[in-house]
Amino acid sequence: MKQIVIINGPNLNLLGKREPGVYGSDSFESYYEHLREKYGSEVALRYYQSNHEGDLVDKLHEIGFTADGIVMNAAAYTHTSVAIADAVRAISTPVVEVHISNVYARESFRHKSYLAAHTKGIITGFGMQSYELAIQSFL
Ligand code: DQA
Repeated sequence: MKQIVIINGPNLNLLGKREPGVYGSDSFESYYEHLREKYGSEVALRYYQSNHEGDLVDKLHEIGFTADGIVMNAAAYTHTSVAIADAVRAISTPVVEVHISNVYARESFRHKSYLAAHTKGIITGFGMQSYELAIQSFL
């Protein structure tokens, strides 16, 4: 069974409460339940969230040589973090970068991703479904 880990970065613990006009009104926990119901029989799915850059780097190191795929929404760190980009580059597990909103339809500072060049691909702008599309890319 494939092991796929979803990693969410800062402020994504507030999904459902945070800017619902941009990110929707579902919490990630309820969406994750849906993912487990849909993919649980074919994928060993795990989920990790942190608001801290170093913790995200540590998690990439911990799982990045054994998991089959990582679905990563680094949130604001996408646009700022050389450390997370270097970690994505250092590990052997492929990473798909996801965003709930279409970052290219938003402020120009969101158009830059430090991670992108080291990922398998990017899925942006499909709401929570971005995560599902990323999971499917590993199946
Ligand atoms: C986000 C887009 C980022 O620009 C933003 O900082 C986030 C969420 C998204 O999922 O749309 O926190 O990654």
